[in-house]
Amino acid sequence: MAPAWWKSSVVYQIYPRSFCDSNGDGVGDLRGITSKLDYLQTLGVDVVWLSPIYPSPNDDGGYDISDYRAIAPEFGSMADFDQMLAQMHQRGIRLVMDLVVNHTSDEHPWFTEACKSKDNPYRNYYIWRAPAADGGPPTNWEAAFSGSTWEFHAPTGEYYLHLFSKKQPELNWENPRVRAEVHGLMRFWLEKGVDGFRMDVINMVSKTYAVDGSLQDAPVLRPGFLQPAFTLVTNGPRLLEFLQEMRREVLDHYDTLTVGEAPCATIRQGVEITHPDTGALNMLFQFEHMDLDSVPGHGEGKWALKTLDLRDLKACLTRWQDGLAGQGWNSLYLGNHDQPRPVSRFGNDSTYRVESAKMLATLLHGMQGTPYVYQGEELGMTNKPYASEADCYDLESINMYRSATQERGIAPEVALQAIRSKGRDNARTPMQWNANSHAGFTTGTPWQPVNPNYPQIHSQAALLDTNSVFHYYRQLIALRKAQPVLVHGRYQLLLAEHPEVYAYLRTLGDERWLVLCNFYGGTPVLDLPYQVAQRVIANYPSAGTSLHNMVLRPFEAAMLRLE
Ligand code: NOJ
Repeated sequence: MAPAWWKSSVVYQIYPRSFCDSNGDGVGDLRGITSKLDYLQTLGVDVVWLSPIYPSPNDDGGYDISDYRAIAPEFGSMADFDQMLAQMHQRGIRLVMDLVVNHTSDEHPWFTEACKSKDNPYRNYYIWRAPAADGGPPTNWEAAFSGSTWEFHAPTGEYYLHLFSKKQPELNWENPRVRAEVHGLMRFWLEKGVDGFRMDVINMVSKTYAVDGSLQDAPVLRPGFLQPAFTLVTNGPRLLEFLQEMRREVLDHYDTLTVGEAPCATIRQGVEITHPDTGALNMLFQFEHMDLDSVPGHGEGKWALKTLDLRDLKACLTRWQDGLAGQGWNSLYLGNHDQPRPVSRFGNDSTYRVESAKMLATLLHGMQGTPYVYQGEELGMTNKPYASEADCYDLESINMYRSATQERGIAPEVALQAIRSKGRDNARTPMQWNANSHAGFTTGTPWQPVNPNYPQIHSQAALLDTNSVFHYYRQLIALRKAQPVLVHGRYQLLLAEHPEVYAYLRTLGDERWLVLCNFYGGTPVLDLPYQVAQRVIANYPSAGTSLHNMVLRPFEAAMLRLE
C-alpha cells in the first residue's frame, strides 16, 4: 500500500478572492495564485486547498455553486486552471479542491428545473415540504445565516430547505441520482489531476428527519424566535453509508487527500469516518475547539462571546489527540476563511504579535495530525478593525447584525463587538504582499479593503527577516517532514490543570520531545523532571536548558528534544 503522504503533509488554504489579483479587477484569481507558487514553495507546504473557484452568484463567497464543472470567469478560465495545476505539480505541490455538495446555488440549473413543477425530474434533488397548518414554515429552525431554514416557493406551494442562505438550497442525498451526480463531478476533477477534496459541511448530507420522516421543532433557547437547528440536521444515520459509497465509487480509485468539514462531530464519529479500514475519509475538521470561546447552548450561537479557558482547550484537543490515536487521523487548524485570525483570537496581536503567532504555530504543528495553514497566518496577519457594521462584507455578519439589532433588541455595540471577535471578514481581508498600495494585492480597488496594518505586516518584509513568523512556519513545516516523531509520535498532555501553560510530550521509539507553550503574557515558573538534549525550535533566544524552576517569557514556546 502506498504510504499515506497526507499524514506528513502540511496544507495551505487559499481563499482565492483575497489571495492575489493578476488583472486589476480587485478580485484575486488563478493567475494570481500561479504567480505566488514560488512563495508557497519557499514556505514548504505540500498541498494547497482552494476555497471554491466555480461559477457562483457569490451570495456566500463562492460556497453557493451554480456550475460544478467550470471556473468562475472572475477567477479565470479552465486553461488558467490547467496551467496552475501543472505549475503546482511541477513544484511537488498537490491540489485539493473544495467540494460543496450539501447544497447548490439556487441558480444551479438543477434547482431552476426543480422549481418548474412538482413532477419535474429534478424536484427530488432538493428537500421540499408542505406548509405547516398555519401556512408558515414546517419547523422553527433558524438558518446559519439568520432567518428561517425554509423558503416558500409560491408557484409550487411548498417550502424548500436551506440550512445556510436562502440562495443555498439543500441537496437531497436520499435520492441516489444526487449521489451519482456528486460522484460524477468528483471524477471530473480527479481526472483533471487534482489530488483530493475538502468537503464542505459533509456531515449534514444525512439528516435524521429525512429517515424517520418526521420533522421536529428544535429546542427553544430563545422564546418567541427561530431556534438553532444544526444538531438536528447533522450526523444523520446514513452519513457513513453515503461516505463509504463515495469511497467505493470514487475515492478508492485515486490517491487522494480527503478532509470533511464536520460541525458538531464527536470523537466517535471522528473514528468512524476516518478509520482507515472501515471509514471513508482521511480526516475531519471538527469544531469543538472553535466553540470554546462561545457560551455553550446559547441561542446566539457563536456570537455569544466567552473568554477562553486554556484548560478547556487542552482538554478538548487532548480528547481528539487521544481519541483518534491509532484509529483515525486528526486535522490540525486554528484558523480558516470562516474563523477569526488565530493571533487576534488566541494570542496577542499588539505587543506580542510575533511571539504569540509563533507560539500558536508551535502548539499546533507539534501535534499528531495534518496541519493546515490559512493564507496570511504564516505572516501573523490580524483581525480586521471593523469601525461599524458598514465594514461587513460577509452575509453571515450582515444578517446577524440586522436580526440581532432589529428583531431581538440586542444593542448595536454588542452585535458589533461580536462581529469584531467572530466575523468571517477578519480572515477575508486581502493577503498582504508588500507595502505598496493595497498591500500589493491588486492594482485596482480591492473587493474589500486591506487591513490598514499592511505597511508593517507583509510577506516581503517577512521573507527578509530571519526572525519573522514566516520563517518560523517554514522551519516547523520542514521539521514535520524530517522528524517522524512529529508525524507518528504518541501525544501525552502534561500539566493538565495549569491555567497558563500548554505542555505535552511526543514519543516515538527513543525519541521524546517536549512541546512547551506559554499561552499568555505572564511569566509562569515551571519545574519539569526532564533533561533537555536539544532545543529544536523556539520563539525566544535560549535562556539555558534547565527545566528546573524555569521562568517562561510572555508567549514563549519551544520544542525540546529530551535526553
Ligand atoms: C462551510 C464553509 O466553510 C462556509 O464558508 C460556508 O458559508 C458554509 N459551509 C456553507 O457552504
